[in-house]
Amino acid sequence: MSASPTANAADQIPPLLDTLAKLTSQRDVGQFLTSALHEAIRATNCHAGSLLFVSDQPRTVREGDLSSEIERQISIWEESLQERLRTTSWQIGEGENLPVSTHALEGTGHLLVNTPLLHDERVTGSLTLVFEAGRTLSLSQRRALTSCAKAIGNLGKMVEQLTITQHSLKQLSFLHKTSQALTSTLDLREVLDNTMELATQILNAQASTLMLIDEDTGELVFDIPHGEKRELLRSYRMAMDQGIAGWVATHARPAIVNDVAGDKRFHTETDARTGFLTQSVICVPLQIKERTIGVLEALNKTSNEGFNDDDLRLLSTLAAQAASAIENARLYRSLREERDKIVSIQEEARRELARDMHDSTLQSLSSIAMSLDYVKRLLEHQPEAAVEELDRLQKMVVEASRQARTLLFELRPIVLETQGLVGALKTYVEQLQGEGPPVFHFNDGGFNGRLSDETGATAFIILQEATNNARKHANPQNIWLSLTQDEEYLQVAVEDDGCGFDLQATRKTADQGAHLGLVSMQERADLIEADLSIKSELDQGTTIVLKVPLKGPTAQSSTA
Ligand SMILES: Nc1ncnc2c1ncn2[C@@H]1O[C@H](COP(=O)(O)OP(=O)(O)OP(=O)(O)O)[C@@H](O)[C@H]1O
Ligand SMILES: [Mg+2]
Repeated sequence: MSASPTANAADQIPPLLDTLAKLTSQRDVGQFLTSALHEAIRATNCHAGSLLFVSDQPRTVREGDLSSEIERQISIWEESLQERLRTTSWQIGEGENLPVSTHALEGTGHLLVNTPLLHDERVTGSLTLVFEAGRTLSLSQRRALTSCAKAIGNLGKMVEQLTITQHSLKQLSFLHKTSQALTSTLDLREVLDNTMELATQILNAQASTLMLIDEDTGELVFDIPHGEKRELLRSYRMAMDQGIAGWVATHARPAIVNDVAGDKRFHTETDARTGFLTQSVICVPLQIKERTIGVLEALNKTSNEGFNDDDLRLLSTLAAQAASAIENARLYRSLREERDKIVSIQEEARRELARDMHDSTLQSLSSIAMSLDYVKRLLEHQPEAAVEELDRLQKMVVEASRQARTLLFELRPIVLETQGLVGALKTYVEQLQGEGPPVFHFNDGGFNGRLSDETGATAFIILQEATNNARKHANPQNIWLSLTQDEEYLQVAVEDDGCGFDLQATRKTADQGAHLGLVSMQERADLIEADLSIKSELDQGTTIVLKVPLKGPTAQSSTA
């Protein structure tokens, strides 16, 4: 047997294993494998080597001077092992020896020695060492090598697990941070901005964008772009059928594209506009209860591996959080707008009441006061005429008190709380009935249910406005208020036989803020989830039907 520089390999094994164990502090599989191979080469005094480590993604590290022939031989070994591990798992029991293959290259005489890496009893890769020509391996050297391969296999897996755990922890802490940030404030823009910045970092991406769908135009709007070209992209719009983002938005499915040049969905215009060079894309839909409201996209993974399923999970979780934060902020905004609207409607109602008091009750009172003066004078000079004047005065007082009561009723009829909608409508109609036309007709349809207080009050205001409109604008002979009821709805119709009007033309002027009655009727109907329909034809009168649900959140059905 020729002299072997690895003769003392067995003695080197314990210190080598120690060194390998220390390498685990590197917490990065790639770095660990590079250092482990280096140590194995050093300890066995060979001049080159290769390490294949197979996990989700196989990794190979090589060191030393490898001729093309040596490389070819190592590649054949490594590829056939990878192929074998792809199709089956290779177990080597505790009592069994690890197989060590040796191959002396023709020509140069280099000795290639290959041993599988083992984790528990499972083969997870291979260690190949290249020795100078003329070397041989003793049994103890083989044993030393296999211990080394077992140590690298086990420690490599350990480092990998640690890296994965560390990565998951990092992701969890990121998601925890963003969820706290997203739920702790309603300043949505700022929070989403921070979220996108963090998303860019955690995904190791060069840029990221949050795009929202503009329902009116069917476009995707770049709401929160991040990265160096952000200013060029802010508020940029793109048609929904364009680009990978458009595909994600229309199909409501995520996409990972690690080579955009080979993907026909990729839309080059955005890059042309900004000068940014997109290479890889990961994009997920932003959804609220299965309705897509936009997408979240990150571009260009900075490492060579491209975006992976892990990134997809992370971005999807982030998208779910962002979508619900957007929804919350939108709801909050519409609540605020609703509140402002209600406040302005109340203001308008107060102004109208003041106007009406001035026009009716106050006018009547001042003419009563004048008439009283006149009666005083009559009593002195023509007492018999005073009786007639007092009769007239009495009628004026009755009329003034009727007007005052109607005004109070307009505000909020107490009867609404005590007798519900039907009682309130009946009293209202009775109060409105004057001497001449219009004649009011009321039919309660036998309705004996009761709506919730708020629904009843809102329905009353809507019907009041419909009745007032008929009185004010239609000049009718008759006004009918009639209730009908089925299992699910209470229907109240207000019908007049007056002049009718052009609904479409009126709605147009309402858009310019001219008349608010019809608009606020519709808004109030929406609030109580009721259906409002208006039919009107010139000279054919007007019918307004309010359909109030008797079941569901806005109703409270019980016997009055
Ligand atoms: N029953 C009706 N018959 C005829 N015209 C009507 C009737 N109801 C509404 N209109 C027409 O529609 C217009 C809009 O009504 P709307 O209630 O929105 O406003 P308005 O009554 O004029 O003012 P306000 O804002 O005080 O209610 C009225 O000005 C009137 O021309
Ligand atoms: Mg009106």
